[in-house]
Amino acid sequence: MTGQPSASLQVKPGRACRSAVSGLLAFVAAALAAAPLPAQVHEGVASCGGATCHGRQAATGAAVRQNELSTWQDPASPAGAHSRAFRVLLAPESARMARRLALGAAEEAPMCLSCHSDYVPAARRGARFRLEDGVGCEACHGGSGARPGGAPGWLASHAAVGNSHAANVAAGLFPATDLIARANMCLDCHFGSIRPGQFVTHRIMAAGHPRLTFELDLFTALQAHHDEDADYRARKPAHGALKAWAVGQALASARQLRLFAQRGTDGALPEFSFFDCRTCHRTFTDQRGLKPLSRAGQWRPLPAGFPAFADENLILLDAAARVLAAAEAGEVRQRSAAFHRAFAESRPAAEAAALALAESAERVARRVAGARLEPGAALRIVAAITEPQHLQRVSEYQGGAQTLMAVETLVSAAVSSGLVSEARARGLRPALDEAHALLKDANRWDEEAFARAMIRLGAAARTML
Ligand code: HEC
Ligand code: HEC
Ligand code: HEC
Ligand code: HEC
Repeated sequence: MTGQPSASLQVKPGRACRSAVSGLLAFVAAALAAAPLPAQVHEGVASCGGATCHGRQAATGAAVRQNELSTWQDPASPAGAHSRAFRVLLAPESARMARRLALGAAEEAPMCLSCHSDYVPAARRGARFRLEDGVGCEACHGGSGARPGGAPGWLASHAAVGNSHAANVAAGLFPATDLIARANMCLDCHFGSIRPGQFVTHRIMAAGHPRLTFELDLFTALQAHHDEDADYRARKPAHGALKAWAVGQALASARQLRLFAQRGTDGALPEFSFFDCRTCHRTFTDQRGLKPLSRAGQWRPLPAGFPAFADENLILLDAAARVLAAAEAGEVRQRSAAFHRAFAESRPAAEAAALALAESAERVARRVAGARLEPGAALRIVAAITEPQHLQRVSEYQGGAQTLMAVETLVSAAVSSGLVSEARARGLRPALDEAHALLKDANRWDEEAFARAMIRLGAAARTML
């Protein structure tokens, strides 16, 4: 068992559950009215975490586990990170960041709260809502309280006997089962959005904020408080790891490109966070044989000496499209090259090319989300991203990190689909560990050693095809 609920979560047992049933009639009326999806009131974690609702000590629920609160609060693992998100704003490193940015208190700054809490406007905070709860249930599942016009939200009805997921979504539950909707929701905080303050700029990183990395399937698994078992599949769609990885990858690319077009400048300068960090953060040298850091090639036609767009997501999008979305793959490749070319040309040309490529990436996401994927595709993507030709594109550390995360996710997808045995997957461990060791320190990134390790890994993975 994990930690006790915090003081804010000591709720009267069963209160929400009882009101849930009594709200059923009102819910039916609301569903019939079929109001457009609204901005609901957020009732706070305390409204979900009652001992007879989602606050059980153990996962003993008949349908859902009902101990989701304790998973969300787990002090010992990444699963509990969202419950800590506000608290880290009180830590010394946040205070230092806020000082460098001249923000005042980090825990009061919209620039931090927009991602480290469920930052809805005051008018949409219910009686038991507390900003201090961090990224609470409703940050992902949607506000559960009343909708504009007073129609009751899904809190009142979702636990009623005979209720369906579709009815909950109609009452305003966020459709987190839909991979496209889920990816975009996670990316709002794990990549950034166009909303005010919801973006980690280079200035915030220079003040000490860690770089953000995100991979939809891995991160969903790390925070999961649900099982995709037979009962779940009877109620909701289940997707599998391969699909989640590919949709997440395509939409991360689309998000980065759209944000580049929307928030690509800071003052008189470009926003540095869109560039590969090492194009600027490198050590000076007068060595004669110095290799340029940002490599150009057919895939990235840049003039020598021009900083490169951080293209780690685009590299994987290309591989995913080739294997899973053949109809879109040519367009992705061509628009990707056109974007890099335009990047060195002019701001307006680069923005237009970014938006065109974002559209292609979104098409790939929709194609993959709607397709029946055959399990072997996971290993074919592993083969594609460990080809020497592909690895030429991975000239930067972040590209290496994303590539290795992809291999691990895809191999575990092949295991969970029954294609590869656990024992055979364990055979890849030494090669994976070697690649991890090469990513330990961004300052010692050695692209050639990484490529060699990945080629060996690819050879081992190909024997499983
Ligand atoms: C776009 C969303 C976003 C914004 C804006 C943002 N953060 Fe973060 N922050 C994150 C995410 C996501 C992580 C987790 C990074 C990871 O593990 O991948 C994080 C991590 C952190 C960490 C490290 C936490 C730990 O457990 O080690 C600190 C400290 C932090 N943020 C403070 C701040 C402060 C202070 C601000 C405001 C100046 C801020 N953040 C703004 C999303 C954001
Ligand atoms: C970071 C986002 C996030 C947060 C925060 C979050 N959830 Fe979830 N939750 C998900 C996702 C993603 C799923 C899987 C998709 C689905 O079934 O909707 C899920 C699934 C669930 C399910 C469905 C299980 C099933 O078998 O149908 C329940 C119940 C649930 N969450 C309750 C909670 C509660 C209670 C909290 C707060 C203590 C919470 N969640 C916080 C993202 C989140
Ligand atoms: C409202 C903003 C927000 C949303 C939405 C959100 N997250 Fe987070 N997430 C954060 C912040 C902030 C952190 C870092 C908290 C900390 O370390 O203290 C974090 C941390 C995590 C971690 C722990 C990472 C680590 O390195 O320990 C995982 C896993 C995670 N999020 C998964 C998800 C998934 C999956 C989704 C979508 C279903 C999601 N998050 C949606 C803000 C958000
Ligand atoms: C276009 C050039 C450029 C790029 C690209 C760039 N930076 Fe910087 N960075 C700078 C400059 C210039 C400073 C110093 C600002 C100052 O003097 O305070 C800086 C400062 C920093 C600092 C503060 C420590 C220091 O060395 O002063 C950190 C941390 C940082 N950058 C992280 C990053 C990360 C992470 C990335 C990639 C996402 C990145 N930077 C990309 C130019 C760049």
